[in-house]
Amino acid sequence: MEYERLPERLETLISQQDLEKRIRELAAEIDRDFAGSDTLLCIGVLKGSVFFLVDLLKQVKIPVAVDFFQTASYGSGKTPGEVRIRKDIDLSIRGRDVLLIEDIVDTGYTLRTILDLFRFRGARTVRLCALLDKATAREVEVPIDYRGFSIDNIFVVGYGLDLDERYRNLPYIGVIRDDSAAGAD
Ligand code: IMP
Ligand code: MG
Repeated sequence: MEYERLPERLETLISQQDLEKRIRELAAEIDRDFAGSDTLLCIGVLKGSVFFLVDLLKQVKIPVAVDFFQTASYGSGKTPGEVRIRKDIDLSIRGRDVLLIEDIVDTGYTLRTILDLFRFRGARTVRLCALLDKATAREVEVPIDYRGFSIDNIFVVGYGLDLDERYRNLPYIGVIRDDSAAGAD
């Protein structure tokens, strides 16, 4: 059944047009900041960042390499501070400039963990690019170098973000207006 016909009401928070415009701006910033650097290693955090990563990197003009990293929380709920590695990167990051690409920064535990791990492994620099920033939900500090949009502490879906694996392919960021839809990871 198409999303339009589901019983939940979906409200647009960030339109497809606004996403495209902001992504072009972020790509231009990245091009400017990394002009003259060696191939930039872009690492997407699976699965949520995939839609954003593809659209962003198609606008970036400097040479990039692409890899993916996947985390998981322990158990079904979130155990703050404990981030498990589900899929590690394939490429070596020693001595490289790394751009970590994430869909959303919520508590900050995921990115904090990956950032510390990549620094420990000897990356030359690690910068963070996040499409969405829920700053008021932050529990640990993470420096976001490239931020798409700041949003309130609400659960959003679409453009890679899911609710129990649904809604990822919505072309915009939406909010589900249905009291029965619980906030999952
Ligand atoms: P953090 O470790 O709390 O910053 O969590 C980041 C992860 O939580 C993201 O990569 C998403 O998978 C998930 N997440 C946080 N907020 C939302 C949301 O509003 N919608 C969908 N997923 C979310
Ligand atoms: Mg994610």
